[in-house]
Parts: sequence; structure tokens; C-alpha cells
Amino acid sequence: MIRSTTAAGEPLGSVADLRSPRRKSGTDPLSLRFSNRLFASSQIARLRRQSLRWFDCHQRDLPWRKNRSPYRVWVSEIMLQQTQVATVIPYFSRFVARFPTVDSLAAADEEAVMRLWEGLGYYRRARKLHQAAKLIQQQHRGRCPETFEEWIALPGIGRYTAGAILSISKDQRLPILEANTVRLHCRLLGITNDPRSAVTQELLWTFAKSLLPRDRAGDFNQALMEIGSQVCVPKNPDCVACPLRSTCTAADQGIVHLIPRKAPRVVPTHVFQFAVVIQRGDEWLMRKCGPGQRWDGLWDVPRFDLAKIQDVRDLPRIIQDQTGLRVAVSPRRFTLRHSVTRYKIELSCHDATRVRGRLRKQLKDQWAWIPCCSIADLPLNITARRIIQRLMQT
Ligand code: ADE
Repeated sequence: MIRSTTAAGEPLGSVADLRSPRRKSGTDPLSLRFSNRLFASSQIARLRRQSLRWFDCHQRDLPWRKNRSPYRVWVSEIMLQQTQVATVIPYFSRFVARFPTVDSLAAADEEAVMRLWEGLGYYRRARKLHQAAKLIQQQHRGRCPETFEEWIALPGIGRYTAGAILSISKDQRLPILEANTVRLHCRLLGITNDPRSAVTQELLWTFAKSLLPRDRAGDFNQALMEIGSQVCVPKNPDCVACPLRSTCTAADQGIVHLIPRKAPRVVPTHVFQFAVVIQRGDEWLMRKCGPGQRWDGLWDVPRFDLAKIQDVRDLPRIIQDQTGLRVAVSPRRFTLRHSVTRYKIELSCHDATRVRGRLRKQLKDQWAWIPCCSIADLPLNITARRIIQRLMQT
């Protein structure tokens, strides 16, 4: 039996258990105890069998499942972080068509990579993927690493991603834990407290490791993610159709609806900004977002903060103070509203013409006059793309 205890004396799996599981002779030496739940070895064997059988019949036909090279699995896993499968599919297909190998990605220009990522969000992922491809080319002669330690040393690769890449592409027996499997495991174990706490995380990783079958570790990991995303969904899970129903503590105890527990409601913060496309002949002034900024590597329409819409009369002065340019600003062309995390942003969009003045020297690294005909080819953030499209239509 694998056993460990918390300070409160509660039985708990731990990482140490993974390295040297202690098996007790008894009626069922391969049983596992986690969070007060004892799994008989026959139940674990059934859970493995039923997950794989379900996956063989119900897995979705996804492009990264067709050819499971480490490179393709890696790209798909990075894109799938915080992003829905349906959103990722067209991005993945375009990306691997344009960059089919690590070498082609390593040789690419950063703007070309960002352009293919545009609209997918979390742009840091794209830059790290690109940096990692360059490192694989330099340090591994363009061949994807074969060990967990080598993968996890690369930018943008954590415990989950390294485990997913090596289990799915090479069937290495490495566990994975992401949003869907956290929920699934918490329900299997009947854990109602915060799954992000360090203690629960360790328990869940240990549990995930212990469940892995000897063969088909990659399919098994994907099966659990797929059951989590298709059946054991956050609201109204389909317990009747669930292949793991007979092993589920939460279903047994009637507490499925309590997991995951409800997050406290976040009060949104309203932000008001002006977005101004400043024109000089047939060039438009654009700003490239820098390191540490939300859209690092993407271009944006210059934005200016004023407390309220009525302050539009102050806009030329604010623009001159910040950019050095004397401009004539149009009345509002349109308003865009969008949300980013807890911010609800209202953008009053204008165009303007430069009357005189030069762009301040200190802005020249990040701000540039771009010929109007090439703006659509730049990697733009989503609001800049919408603003440019609307202005070009008028
Ligand atoms: N989410 C992240 N990786 C996934 C995968 N390989 N299959 C299904 N959902 C996933």
C-alpha cells in the first residue's frame, strides 16, 4: 500500500512515495490510499481499462493526434494551454503547415511566428516556443529531446507539458495534470477543497502517476483529459455516460456538483481609453508592445488614458505631451468594448492627422510610421486588428 500522512494524520500520497512505493503485504498489496479513499488494485485496473476503451471509441478526431511526432505534440500542447480545442484546431493546422519542423520554426522571423499566433492570445507562449526551437537547434541539433529533464529545461515547458509531450509522442510513463484532469481526479477522490493548494497538488500528481498503466501511457493521459473535457465537465457532468462512474467517490457521495467549488465572483474594473490612428501622409503611427506588456511582440494602435469621454478636448494636448506630435483629432469614429481578465475596456476610436512635430526620440524603439498598405500584414493585437479593419472600410 502506498501511504503517507498529513500533519492532521490524514492519509496522503506524496512524491517520496513515487520513488520508493512501500507495499504492505496483505490481502491487496497493490491497493492505493488517497485522501481517505482506498482503491483496490482491481478498481485501478478497471479504471485504466475503461478509460482506454472509452478513448478508443470516443476520442475526437484532432489534427495533432494523426501524427504524434514530439514537435507536433509540443506545438499542440502549447496552443492548448488556456485555450479551447475548437479554437486551436485551425491555428495548429496553419502553424505546422508553415513550420513543419523544429528547424523551420527556429529559422523563422519572430514577426512571422507572432502573425500565425495572432488571435490565439497569451502571446508569451509563442515567443517561448520560438526561443525553445532555437535552443533545440543549437543544443540538440534540431532533434527534439527525449528526456523529461531536457524538455523541462526549455522555455515555456513545465511539468505538465514535458509529461504530455513524452507520454503522447513516446509513451513514456509520465503523469499529466491540467484543468480537466484536476477536476476529474478531485471528483474521483471526492476532494472538495482548493485543488491549487500545494498539498492537494502533490496529492493529485501522485495519484495521476499511480494510475498510469504500463503500456499506452500517452493514450491513457489523453483519455483522462478527454473524459474531463467531454463527460466530466464543470457543470452538469454526464455521470450516466461516464466510463469511470463506478470508481467515482463524488458520484457515490452525491457531491459531484460541489467540485470544483465555486470561485468567488470577481468585480470587474472598468477602464476607459482612447485609441488614435495618427496619419502622416499614407503612413500610420503604430506602437509595438514591449517585454512585460500584455501583447509583447504584437503591434497596437496608440492608446491614451483620459478619465472620461468628455475629456476628448484634452486629447490633442495629451498626444502632444506623450509623442511630441501636434495633431488634429477626428470626432469619435466608433466605440469598441472588450474584456481582458477582470478589466472591462471601453475604447473610443479616432483618427488624427499630424500637423507638425517629430516623434520623441525615446519612443523610436517601439513606435513607428508604417505604410498604410503594410499594416494588415503586421502581427496586431485583436483590438488593433478590429480598429484597422473598420477604419479601412470607411
Ligand atoms: N488538452 C490539452 N492537451 C490535450 C490533448 N492532448 N487532448 C485533449 N485535450 C487536451
